[in-house]
Amino acid sequence: MSQTDTLVEDLEQIRSDAFVEVKYDEAIPNNVDLSSDKQLLRALESWHPAYLEWWKDMGPDGFQDAEVYLRTAVGVDPAGWAKFGHVKMPDYRWGILLAPKIEGRSVPCGKHKGEPAWQEVPGEYRSLLKRLIVVQGDTEPASVEQQRYLGKTAPSLYDMRNLFQVNVEEGRHLWAMVYLLVKHFGKDGREEAQALLERRSGQQDNPRILGAFNERTPDWLSFFMFTYFTDRDGKMQLAALAESGFDPLSRSCRFMLTEEAHHLFVGETGVQRTIEATCQAMQKAGITDPYDVARVRALGVVDLPLLQRKANFHMSVTRDLFGSEISSNGAEAFSAGLKGRFNEANLKDDHQLHDALYTVTRVVDGKLVDEQVPALRAINCRLLDDYIADCQGGIDRWNKTIEKAGIEFRITQPYKGFNRRIGEFKGQRITPEGKLVTESEWQQGVGSWLPNADDMQFIASLMKPCAEPGKFASWIAPPARGINNQPGDFEYVKIA
Ligand SMILES: [Fe+2]
Ligand SMILES: [Fe+2]
Repeated sequence: MSQTDTLVEDLEQIRSDAFVEVKYDEAIPNNVDLSSDKQLLRALESWHPAYLEWWKDMGPDGFQDAEVYLRTAVGVDPAGWAKFGHVKMPDYRWGILLAPKIEGRSVPCGKHKGEPAWQEVPGEYRSLLKRLIVVQGDTEPASVEQQRYLGKTAPSLYDMRNLFQVNVEEGRHLWAMVYLLVKHFGKDGREEAQALLERRSGQQDNPRILGAFNERTPDWLSFFMFTYFTDRDGKMQLAALAESGFDPLSRSCRFMLTEEAHHLFVGETGVQRTIEATCQAMQKAGITDPYDVARVRALGVVDLPLLQRKANFHMSVTRDLFGSEISSNGAEAFSAGLKGRFNEANLKDDHQLHDALYTVTRVVDGKLVDEQVPALRAINCRLLDDYIADCQGGIDRWNKTIEKAGIEFRITQPYKGFNRRIGEFKGQRITPEGKLVTESEWQQGVGSWLPNADDMQFIASLMKPCAEPGKFASWIAPPARGINNQPGDFEYVKIA
């Protein structure tokens, strides 16, 4: 099966249970009958201008007046759930969309398993549930902030459009979480909704909640790695929250997954096309040694070892987002039924994990040791392991391209404990191969494991904008097909 087929299939599968009737004649497009709840409507209407302020301050810099070919979710028909058209981003119809209610749905896991899913916040779990929603919500605007300068160095109008599509949808994901906060958490919820617009990625005194969302996304290679690896953390978290016994959260997340699939596509194909350009240029120049870096770079393409270092960075930073492998918060969220595991419904066990064990790798007396721990306490570890497995598909497809070009090089995932700042491996020095090393061995090797100053300088030198319809920067190949089947020279962004 081709890569596109697999992606399309994934997308269809996710879409199939997410169709909704959206009301577009209201100020805030929605399928949650907003007009019947005046108090909620007022709260959201008062949040809306602050959101737009934030978008103008922190959204894509320099492109607020550009007309961008964007998709907007409009309906229930699997053949056309979204419509495409040129819009200015501040005029995008950010809405509140929930996947359809499943009649008779019950809490899928934990000690309330089998009880009817909650339509209102269960009082005993109020603060834990609010925290889960706030943390998820905080990542959405954070990524927009991280990516705000990238429009200026886009390698093509096609890529620029994809960036902006991802950005407006992350904005909509923020709306989705704010809706839950404002509707279900009263005054506290409104305060949290406000705070989501006040924190800033990378800001010292009021940063975003999670580490990876305070890193910079300074170039397009970072953007593609981010959308492949870090949006995939988003996919895993949303999938786990889609299993929530709190039904409004489950329905929100199920719809968000529809959009997330495109973000992953942007990441996977972005790296893929980077690799294609590199392999083609190497073949044309008769270079077979991927480590002949100076000659490869002279061709204006990204050498494969550098791609591996970039991938190492983004993978390790993203793995930290899963939190400590062994976690009492993780256990509590699961046993409360607020957050399931990946694919909870298809797992064949009691969904309560009474006596189950799970293998967690820990560092004991300077050695890596596999330990059996209660599965309930290892929920985060399991989601991380599922994530690592989920990352592999795209990497295999990247490697096929390299193999086809006859180049001896394979992109691999570094060992789970490499370059970690959170959890079992925190404070340890572990190589990508999984060897515990001393600080001085680490310092000797780190320049070949993570992007070094030379790498970053070289990448920066490639970031020359290319805004002519149908043209692409030297380091990236054109896509196999256009968005919504548009022709190659389509003007995806009409720059004002
Ligand atoms: Fe998102
Ligand atoms: Fe995303």
